[in-house]
Amino acid sequence: SVPIIRTLAELREAVSTWKATGDSVGVVPTMGALHQGHLSLVRAAKAGCDRVIVTIFINPKQFNNPEDYEKYPRTEQDDARKLEPFEVDAVYVPDGAQMYPEGFNTTVSVDGLTDVLCGAHRPGHFDGVATVVSKLFLQSQADRAYFGEKDFQQLQVVTRMARDLDMPIEVVGCPTIREEDGLAMSSRNLLLSDRARTWAPELNAAMEEMAEGLLAGVDIQELRSKAIARIKRAGFTEVEYLDLRACDTLEELNAPTRPARLLAAAWLAGVRLIDNIAVG
Ligand code: PAJ
Repeated sequence: SVPIIRTLAELREAVSTWKATGDSVGVVPTMGALHQGHLSLVRAAKAGCDRVIVTIFINPKQFNNPEDYEKYPRTEQDDARKLEPFEVDAVYVPDGAQMYPEGFNTTVSVDGLTDVLCGAHRPGHFDGVATVVSKLFLQSQADRAYFGEKDFQQLQVVTRMARDLDMPIEVVGCPTIREEDGLAMSSRNLLLSDRARTWAPELNAAMEEMAEGLLAGVDIQELRSKAIARIKRAGFTEVEYLDLRACDTLEELNAPTRPARLLAAAWLAGVRLIDNIAVG
């Protein structure tokens, strides 16, 4: 069975025992509804650390939309079952009162990187992420933390935060795991109807086509219009953004003249999907 820990006191006790013998500790922060994307992070953590903590906490502070928070999948028993074969050292599942006790009054906020893309469309989202991730880093005292490139902006924000605040932790980025049809795995895919699920891979397909065009030197505006038309034809109702950006600073680019990433967010049947791919 999986060693579930619900309180910070128990977590601290376990971690201090491990640290006393010199074991390295890795943490994999999640909001549950675990899929192969999450499990790839667990695998990387197991390979890189002596001890591994998976955290499951659906963080209310990062949901800018209450309805999104309400309908977020909650599947603790399934999650525990999926983690069993990995033999992790702890699954930390704090409740809301443990993370945000009465009177909680602190926000961690990363400037610049959070003004664009998802930050521009989800006010307060990255403050919520930076705040909860800071807490999870401090609570777990991990040496390494594993994040997916699926949430590319989040990975950059967390990396910047750890560096800016001299947090003694290495942030490790791991590649996006996809379904066979190219759809990036996401807990939110569970919210798609069967019909919408068949349309969803067009987002990635249109992005791959756009990336090829960019590498061939085609004008970005022309490529963007074409990609947006393709995504909407597939049944998406809105494309929030479809941008080429510098990997490190997330500055907007018109061509892949330095390490660049194509990033998108789009709405399908009331579900907001995001994806990103390297260009070149
Ligand atoms: P969640 O969406 O559950 O994702 C947890 C981690 O899994 C993140 O690092 C995310 O990038 C990674 N991940 C999700 N889908 C992936 C995929 N298809 N391939 C590879 N990695 C994938 O991101 C969050 O939770 C939260 O914001 C959190 C960091 C836990 C803070 O609350």
